[in-house]
Amino acid sequence: MQSVGILGTGAYVPEKVLTNADLEKMVDTSDEWIVTRTGMKERRIAAPDQASSDLALKAAEQALERAGVSAEEIDLIIVATVTPDMSFPTVSCLLQTQLGANKAATFDLSAACAGFLYGVTTASQFIQTGAYRYALVVGVECLSRITNWSDRETAILFGDGAGAVVLGPVEEGYGFLSFELGGDGSKGDLLKVPAGGSRLPASHETVEKRLHTIQMVGREVFKFAVRVIISSTEGALKKAGMTKEDIDFLIPHQANIRIIDAAVKRFGLDEQKVVINIHRYGNMSSASIPVALHEAVMEGRFQKGDKLVLCGFGAGLTWGATVLKWSLE
Ligand code: ACO
Repeated sequence: MQSVGILGTGAYVPEKVLTNADLEKMVDTSDEWIVTRTGMKERRIAAPDQASSDLALKAAEQALERAGVSAEEIDLIIVATVTPDMSFPTVSCLLQTQLGANKAATFDLSAACAGFLYGVTTASQFIQTGAYRYALVVGVECLSRITNWSDRETAILFGDGAGAVVLGPVEEGYGFLSFELGGDGSKGDLLKVPAGGSRLPASHETVEKRLHTIQMVGREVFKFAVRVIISSTEGALKKAGMTKEDIDFLIPHQANIRIIDAAVKRFGLDEQKVVINIHRYGNMSSASIPVALHEAVMEGRFQKGDKLVLCGFGAGLTWGATVLKWSLE
């Protein structure tokens, strides 16, 4: 099987910053509560004329440039998102034409905050088997468009952004060493947007009742997240024949600093080994991990041969983790 790794990364976040102080004016909350309970200080909000494909395009262009791969060479585009521009056409199709990636197969993938992990896992299979050479995987969200801005339990959590990676063949022994994906649909009610699909199509009533926005049972999602960030990381490490001592960097989904802290404690990790940007961006769902990854790359934090664990979890419920041996100099 061909070894597959990341050839280039990119990220984009909108300019508008929404701070905790701004949120204090919108709902009954405080900077102190948000920082201590979540670790978040600010998040980015897409401009009125920006949709997910606009954010995705900027991240994707950067990833292609950094990978030294042209749009025409891309065989496959997967966009992980729960906030597409519209039901269809997909964000991946919109992106394909904007990039000029004319030969690429395209599809969107919906696995909420685990979406990026599902995306890289899926794309890797095509390259491992030799079916395709280059794939573009994007995690993008405009969660501000499905946030209930009068619900203090969710309004404080989410932000908008996009992260992208170009996957392709790498030296043997490098790249993705294992994947661990999972789901538990029986707990789907814990985190959902009830309306807008075939069950509850848009109507005056669904809009009035704010059923097009995120509903979350925070405490239960929190418990699930702590459990699964540990179990999926351990699962991926085991499949790679590694232990927690082998982790050079953990890049977790940025949902709550207390969830990340639980994993750090469990694995006995030095803070320097954990990539965290939650204080600046909040929870960007499928975009959280690729944006954090890109920023760490730009800071020069990874050396060739470092073992990275990427781990995501979210609505569905879904989760995913991978062990990646960094292949770039
Ligand atoms: N400001 C002030 N007080 C608040 C706020 C707020 N923004 N939100 C809730 N509170 C109050 C509650 O009403 C409650 O008050 P009470 O004790 O009088 O009833 C108190 O604070 C404690 O509430 P909890 O829900 O127990 O607070 P908790 O510590 O669990 O934090 C949070 C809530 C931040 C939502 C946490 O549960 C969490 O992070 N959950 C996980 C979210 C997550 O991981 N989502 C991931 C997936 S997202 C996706 O897939 C799209």
